[in-house]
Amino acid sequence: EGGVMRIEVLREKCQGHARCWAQSPDIYGLDDEGYILPGDIDVPDERKRAAWLGAKSCPERALVIHDE
Ligand code: F3S
Repeated sequence: EGGVMRIEVLREKCQGHARCWAQSPDIYGLDDEGYILPGDIDVPDERKRAAWLGAKSCPERALVIHDE
């Protein structure tokens, strides 16, 4: 509660399924070829649920949730 949520992006695992983006386009950005943008993502409190759903939607498990 009240902790910071961070999404760790394992870009080498991304296969461009774009389900993360379809679920939460304001949190997960894709490059021109449809792969997740590199770099971990700090998630504001009010977007935690959307970020969680997006991370869980990735079939390659490229998005690791850290919620302290
Ligand atoms: Fe990549 Fe997974 Fe999103 S494969 S584009 S991180 S759904």
